[in-house]
Amino acid sequence: MRVVAQAVIAALLLALATTQSAAAAGRCGEPPERPWCDTSLAPDARAQLLVDQLTQEEKFSLMAGDDATGVFLAFRDPRAHVGTSLGVERLGIPTLFFTDGPLGVRQGMGTGLPAAMGLAATFDPAVARRYGAVVGNEAKLKGNDVVHAPVVNLMRTPLGGRTFEGYGEDPLLTARIGVGWTQGAQSEGVIANVKHFAANNQEADRFVTNAEVDERTLREMYLPQFEANVKEGRAGTVMCAYNRVNGVPACENGFLLEDVLRDEWGFEGFVLTDYGFAQKSTAGSANNGLELEMPQAGFYSQANLAAAVTSGQVPQAAIDLHVRRILRTMFSFGIFDREAYVNDDAQIDKTGHADVTREIEEAAITLLKNDGVLPLRDGQVKSIAIVGADADGYKRGGGSGQVEPFTFTSPRAGITKRAGEGVEIRYDPGNDPVAAAAAARGADVALVFASDNQTEFADKPCLSLECGNPARGDQDGLIDAVATANPNTVVVLETGGPVLTPWRDRVRAVVEAWYPGAEGGTALARMLFGDVDPGGRLPSTFPRREEDKPLDGNPRQFPGVAENAEYSEGVFVGYRHYDERGLAPAFPSGHGLSYTTFGYRDLRIEPSPAGAVVSAVVTNTGGRAGVETPQLYLGLPEPRGDVPQPPRALKGFTKVALEPGQTRRVRFSLDERALSYYDVAARGWRVAAGCYGVAVGRSSRDLPLQGVLARGGASCSRSPGSGRPPTEQPGGGLPTSGCNARAFSLRLPDPRGRERLVSASVTVNGRRAPVRRRGGRLVARIDLRRVTAARPRVRIVARTSRGRTIRLARTYRRCSVPCKRSATVRVRDPAGQERFVSARVTVNGRRAQSSVSPRGVRARIDLRRVPAGPAKVRIVARTSTGRTVRAQRNLRACGRRRGRV
Ligand code: BGC
Repeated sequence: MRVVAQAVIAALLLALATTQSAAAAGRCGEPPERPWCDTSLAPDARAQLLVDQLTQEEKFSLMAGDDATGVFLAFRDPRAHVGTSLGVERLGIPTLFFTDGPLGVRQGMGTGLPAAMGLAATFDPAVARRYGAVVGNEAKLKGNDVVHAPVVNLMRTPLGGRTFEGYGEDPLLTARIGVGWTQGAQSEGVIANVKHFAANNQEADRFVTNAEVDERTLREMYLPQFEANVKEGRAGTVMCAYNRVNGVPACENGFLLEDVLRDEWGFEGFVLTDYGFAQKSTAGSANNGLELEMPQAGFYSQANLAAAVTSGQVPQAAIDLHVRRILRTMFSFGIFDREAYVNDDAQIDKTGHADVTREIEEAAITLLKNDGVLPLRDGQVKSIAIVGADADGYKRGGGSGQVEPFTFTSPRAGITKRAGEGVEIRYDPGNDPVAAAAAARGADVALVFASDNQTEFADKPCLSLECGNPARGDQDGLIDAVATANPNTVVVLETGGPVLTPWRDRVRAVVEAWYPGAEGGTALARMLFGDVDPGGRLPSTFPRREEDKPLDGNPRQFPGVAENAEYSEGVFVGYRHYDERGLAPAFPSGHGLSYTTFGYRDLRIEPSPAGAVVSAVVTNTGGRAGVETPQLYLGLPEPRGDVPQPPRALKGFTKVALEPGQTRRVRFSLDERALSYYDVAARGWRVAAGCYGVAVGRSSRDLPLQGVLARGGASCSRSPGSGRPPTEQPGGGLPTSGCNARAFSLRLPDPRGRERLVSASVTVNGRRAPVRRRGGRLVARIDLRRVTAARPRVRIVARTSRGRTIRLARTYRRCSVPCKRSATVRVRDPAGQERFVSARVTVNGRRAQSSVSPRGVRARIDLRRVPAGPAKVRIVARTSTGRTVRAQRNLRACGRRRGRV
């Protein structure tokens, strides 16, 4: 009886205990002894409980890695982690293990995935998710908690040594692919470490270079990818870069690490350094947002941190904050509440992963040119000459993005297998053009393989194949020799990014296979024989000539002078550069052929309060099933002369698989941000009033559908090119206008075809406006400052190279931006589950009145004493679970003056 009573009491006590706290399932321990192991508490609360238990030495130890050799050994040794940060055994804090990287796991052998540039070419975030999931899964099964990827640095120059690790030249595409990658990897239970924050765009002077970049450019081109990975991808860690940004090392850049990353984007994970040379000081980093030094303690050694705290250079609160952020991230990713991952390659589904790499590569291979020689037809092709050593090996990039593949299928093996017994395969390594030509002569088709060499640590000296990969000799000469010997020559490029293609008119097809990954050979063979439609589209422009590429001939911009790289090209990166200068590329950004053809019609632009929905009808007009990648570009109006806008910016893309004759309406949602520019003076995103050129089509230079979206009360008529297919329209795009603009540049687009505008006369309400030629196009300077009319009228009379006269008129409306004298700002928990306990509200850094109710924070802001201009309202609130909620509102104060500005 007594035993039964005891058992009942014990059961009751247990039930009581479990309603109050929940024990962690993993290695954390029991909540009675270790209260932070109570999984019913929020990560912030658990982290704080643990910080309170740590000694100063333990705190310091958590701020630096503990293994300097793994980063080197990992190239070969499956037991070597790229990084290790020891936990604290006494309190059950787990050790963290880190690995690379963006193209697969670098720890002994792993599944080799196609180059990240190839992933970008898929234009498909769902594919990126699968890619990230393969890497995340292998990182986990090799015993890691964090994987150093994705790389979301923009390709500022096609010479960049790490071009193959990133996603090309457009921030939107890079953001979408990066977010997919991060979500895929983290769905496997590891933390993605998005890198390298920020403006890390070259290898020259890699540890010291200073990126001198104005804030608008930074915000519009180099940060959005990180922002998306933090806000949508919910990446748990960020790697700060080796370089400096505007004079301040990235790993102690308070503007980047605290103001932007934390306060604006709400990042709640932790920041760790790139390896070895990114951190430049102890106090600078500790006071400006750096949590973890990798791969081992240097500036964050016990001695250095102790001295910095004792001398008062670093407040104790900063140390506690960094440790809390690390632990909070570990709690929120469940690291305490599970067992350590086991490092054993035998757990990996190598075959399954190889299949995924093949499918990714099939979606990545980009058919740049095809005059009908492809696809190869079974039964008709009896002999194939394969030329070039890269056809017989595994082509990959070097450095931390290098992967030693478990297995691979070379292009030669893949093509031989797919062609089958009845087809004669001749192979020549291409060392001697005469021998290669002899092998190619008489074959039904000749496939020439060429590659570039990319690696971390070194940028390429130039874009030609020869100087990009000297070990392979004169590859352009080899292609010429084969093309002369065989009229059915197809070039297959295995490059990590753009190269020069001087022979493209002399060969029948050009295929970009990127660094193709472990099953690249199989994927390529299936694409060549038409088993799959080539899925890729270019994430970066291939120029015609070396001197056309961005930053060419300007050492101040690249590689920089005296370790300083001026980003003076501003937002004119990638295709924006070619468009602005009216340079016709060899293959434009977004370009890639299918084996079928697609028609575009019926553009609809439906404005919404915040943006618009743009849609168009796409039809498969050919005889085969195929995949199309419709793209939406906008030409934004220029609100002021100092905010130049490129003719086109990618704002949406999608993929559609269509059977012959099948039709689908594709939709793109444009939110407010898609229409915005970053207004530095107002410290926020602004939508300029004016006319937005809308263009939909199959590449940045092939946009059959064009229209206009008006914002801010602007009156917009259709452009000369609208509605017509401007297949190759260098420097095209729609004229811009603005209703609140005081002075701005109006680009005059060339008409379609070979016709050019040779001269133009432009008047604003009868007064002559200056016209000059910029980057190959006529640009009129419109100054509305002295015009008093509410609706000024701009007239353009232009002469074309064919002697035609084009007349255009455009009416502008002067509009106003409302300012406020008071405003109410509210913050709520969207889920409605947490109570707010306190809040701090500031306006331009000064404390403001606010009231807190359990359901939210309501602040009545009096702007009458705030000087006229931008008023940044920041709210930092605490909830009952210890969570910090941050919000920001950008207002405009009227100042003492009445009325509107
Ligand atoms: C690279 C990082 C990499 C790290 C560890 C550094 O040299 O810049 O991208 O994650 O090494 O291998």
